[in-house]
Amino acid sequence: MRSASGKRNGYASNHGGKSPLKNIHQYRLGIVGATGAVGRELIHLVHDRGFPCSELQLLASARSAGRQIQQNGNSWTIRETRPDSFDELDVAIFSAGSDTTRRLAAEANRRNCVVIDNSSAYRMDPKVPLVVPEINSDALTRHQGIVANPNCTTAVALMGLYPLHRAFGLTRFFACTYQAVSGAGAAAMEELKTQVLQWSRNQPLTARVFPHQIAFNLLPQADAFQPGGYTKEELKMANESRKILDLPTLKVSTTCVRVPVFRAHSIAVHAEFEKAVDLAAAREAVQSFPGTILVDEPENHRYPMPIDFSSREACGVGRLRKDDAFDNGLAFWVVGDQLWKGAALNAIQIAEAMHERHILRI
Ligand code: A2P
Repeated sequence: MRSASGKRNGYASNHGGKSPLKNIHQYRLGIVGATGAVGRELIHLVHDRGFPCSELQLLASARSAGRQIQQNGNSWTIRETRPDSFDELDVAIFSAGSDTTRRLAAEANRRNCVVIDNSSAYRMDPKVPLVVPEINSDALTRHQGIVANPNCTTAVALMGLYPLHRAFGLTRFFACTYQAVSGAGAAAMEELKTQVLQWSRNQPLTARVFPHQIAFNLLPQADAFQPGGYTKEELKMANESRKILDLPTLKVSTTCVRVPVFRAHSIAVHAEFEKAVDLAAAREAVQSFPGTILVDEPENHRYPMPIDFSSREACGVGRLRKDDAFDNGLAFWVVGDQLWKGAALNAIQIAEAMHERHILRI
C-alpha cells in the first residue's frame, strides 16, 4: 500500500517551472475568468506545469479591467473579455460561467482560438468532447474547436470509479457528495470565512451566496432543483458520467451536499459491477491508475481527507470494501481538489494532451 505522500500521479506536481512537455510549439494562451477561484489556480498551474505558452493573457469581466494580478513573480493587467480578445490567442481556457461561454466561445473559434471550457454550456453537446484525460483522451481527436471540462464532482468521482469499471464493468452507482464551498466560486469561500469570523465575534451571520448559513452547517443542495427532485449538480453527475465512460445506459443516483470545507470535494460511492469483484484486484486497479492514490489503512485511521488533498494533483481513494447491498458491489470514499482535478488541472491536462497529439488548433 502506498501512502498519501508516496506515489505521485502520472503528472508529477511542482515541476519547478520546467516543462514536462517538449517545447515544439508555444501557444498564446488566454484565461477567461482569471480573477475567479478556478482562474487563479489556472495561472498557478500554467506556470507550475510549464505549459508551453509564449504569452499569457488574463481576461475577466469589465468590472475587473485594469486590475493588476501578481503571481509567481509576474504581473498582469486584467483585460475585459470581448470577441476581439481572441484575435491574438491560440487557446483560451474559460472559467467564467455558462453565460460567458455561450456568448464568447463561438467568437473565439471564429478567430481560430481553441476553447477549453470549465462551464456546463457545451458538456452534453454531442459535437463537444467531454474529457478526463486519464479516462477518455481519445475523444479529443474529434474536437471541433471546443472541449468541455467535466463538472468538478463528476471528475473526482470518476477518478475513483473508472479503474474499478475497467476491472469489473460498472452497471450502476449511488453517491453522496461532501462538496467544498470553493466549488461555488471565490465569493462562496469568502462567505464561509466571514461567517466563521462573525460566529467567533458573536455577530449575526450573513448569507448571500448560499441560501442558508454554511458555517457549522450542511446544505443538501448544490445548484438549483430540477423537476423530479434532483438538483442540477446531481443530474450533471449522472449525465456526464454516462458520456465520459461511454455507458449510455448507466444507472446513477446521487445526493450532492455542500459542506463547510474550503477546498477538495469528498464522495462516498457505492457501485455495482457486472463481474464478481475481488478486493485485492480492486486495490491494485486503483493503485496502478495514474491520477489516483490509495490511502486505505483503516486500522491506522488513514483514509483520504480534504485537508490532505487540497492543492494536490492526485485524487485519493480509501475505505475500499465489498458493498454488502449488492452481489458484485464495491463501496469507497474518494477525495480530490475540485479546483484542480475538478477544474483547472484537468483543463491544463486537456491542453497538454491536445498539444502532445498536435491537435491543439482548429
Ligand atoms: P470578474 O472578477 O471580473 O467578475 P468565480 O467562479 O470565482 O465566481 O469567478 C468567476 C469568474 O468569471 C471571475 O473571474 C469573473 O470576473 C468572470 N466573469 C464573470 N462574468 C464575466 C463576463 N461577463 N465576462 C468575462 N468574465 C466574467
